[in-house]
Amino acid sequence: MADRLRVAVIGVGGIGIEHVKSVIACPRATVVALCESHPKRGREIAERYKIPRAYSDYRELLEQPDIDAVTIALPNCLHAPVALEAIQSRKHVFLEKPMATNAKDALKIAEAAKKSRLTVMVGQDFRFRPGTQLAKMLIDRNDLGEIYHTRLFWLRRSGIPRIGSWFTQKDLSGGGCTIDLGVHLIDTMMYLVGEFEAVSITAQTFAKFGPRDIGGYDWGKGDVDPRKTFTVEDNCVALLRLKSGRTASIDISWAGFHAPEIREYGLDLFGTNGGLSLYPARFFRNGANGYETVNLSTPKLPMTEDRIQHFVHCALDNKKPLISLDESVKVQQVLDAIYASAETGKEIRIK
Ligand SMILES: NC(=O)c1ccc[n+]([C@@H]2O[C@H](COP(=O)([O-])OP(=O)(O)OC[C@H]3O[C@@H](n4cnc5c(N)ncnc54)[C@H](O)[C@@H]3O)[C@@H](O)[C@H]2O)c1
Repeated sequence: MADRLRVAVIGVGGIGIEHVKSVIACPRATVVALCESHPKRGREIAERYKIPRAYSDYRELLEQPDIDAVTIALPNCLHAPVALEAIQSRKHVFLEKPMATNAKDALKIAEAAKKSRLTVMVGQDFRFRPGTQLAKMLIDRNDLGEIYHTRLFWLRRSGIPRIGSWFTQKDLSGGGCTIDLGVHLIDTMMYLVGEFEAVSITAQTFAKFGPRDIGGYDWGKGDVDPRKTFTVEDNCVALLRLKSGRTASIDISWAGFHAPEIREYGLDLFGTNGGLSLYPARFFRNGANGYETVNLSTPKLPMTEDRIQHFVHCALDNKKPLISLDESVKVQQVLDAIYASAETGKEIRIK
């Protein structure tokens, strides 16, 4: 392989442009091509960022022998098929979250990746946040004692990405706010507590805003078809049990009437010796003068590299990524179980 990883970005909508910028900023990679089905956008981005080749068909791109790796920033329903074809074409793969629209497809990616020995990674960006890395350090040092419960929330007030786009159609997205936002927090929580074995979940989802065409915002570049009905959830509450007996409460919304003064999203970890609240990072404990709150600044930490830079280094140096595919499959199983519980009204066992 060349000294610099030759990367192609597939899908240059809302987040794909960020992939392009990240690869350009990476000293050990070059963007050699992009693929975008919207022909004008593909050409414009290629010109703006001086990317030599723009394809509109990802299969044609995957046939090119001088591309070492692809980053995939496509609608969720295309993650699994394109990732599988990319692996088959011997490309390293950086895949946007969620890994797939269901655990069965996620598992197929993990199995194909294992056989290939390529670097394949889901780009869970929350893992790379300095606050997350600081929390991980404190937890691994046992500053919190036994973590018995965590609280995950992301409560957007008006944040449904483009009502009528692929985001709000279940067959294209796999789900609404839970698979879109919840995936970040579930992955981060499991990583922080070091436990990916979930045993059961009970969940309820709601679609109270999108179907009335309220609560939207203009994220992304996906085409909007106003005739398409809103077939996903815009709110979700759940209680997850992990194998150790530890629990996680999950509260996610794309839209809702929430108090403005609370954090929009966060992750709180409750331990027997201390508590940790993200984001920003604060630590609560009993000090010499009683209950103390310590505001944590985020110092230099070993793992602060950008997620795409991390992927590039792993591919070039044949290193294990911070996010393993087995972990991403486990997260996807939790998402599946949330939807199954909401649909059946029952607690779901997770195998
Ligand atoms: N990590 C994050 O913080 C983050 C943020 C936003 C989105 N995402 C994820 O990134 C993915 C993309 O989201 P987005 O917001 O950029 O969506 P988007 O709709 O803005 O962009 C998707 C792009 O893919 C293009 N596309 C669709 N089908 C294609 C095909 N067959 N071939 C080539 N191009 C095709 C579309 O034209 C569009 O430009 C989603 O999976 C989403 O969950 C992650």
